Amino acid sequence: MEKIFTVNGEQRTFRFEPRETLLTVLRNNGFTEVKSGCGEGSCGACLVLLDGRLVNSCQVFAATAAGKKITTAKGIGTIHNPHPIQDAFSDTGAVQCGFCTPGMVLASYYLLQHNPDPSDEEIKTALDGNLCRCTGYTKIIEAVQLAAKRMGGYG
Ligand code: FES
Ligand code: FES
Repeated sequence: MEKIFTVNGEQRTFRFEPRETLLTVLRNNGFTEVKSGCGEGSCGACLVLLDGRLVNSCQVFAATAAGKKITTAKGIGTIHNPHPIQDAFSDTGAVQCGFCTPGMVLASYYLLQHNPDPSDEEIKTALDGNLCRCTGYTKIIEAVQLAAKRMGGYG
């Protein structure tokens, strides 16, 4: 099948099989910042925003995302023009292998949009669907606190 998607503000036409997931279709079309981890909805590596809602793209059929607005981590900031959350992850050393980072950044972005001044406990709750094998999470929590401070409480 062939359908039109809006990814990071750009309209794209993707061809795919009816049962392919949004994760597979995004990665097959170059959006490799969306990481493929567990494939069963429990690691958060594949997070995207779908019409502003955080979803694990491995759990969504691509066909159901057609016509909706999809935002990946590159849609909120790039290496040359990073979002304050991405800068904060880098500045606090919250990135090691980087595999979890796009999902962590998107989950943090969603949190700060809805709660611009979160407590450590609220950050832990917001990120509890995102697994990181490297950092021990402390620096990730620091990164989100730093981003919240730099963003002045306006997610
Ligand atoms: S790959 Fe989707 S939640 Fe792990
Ligand atoms: S930085 Fe390696 S999994 Fe999080």
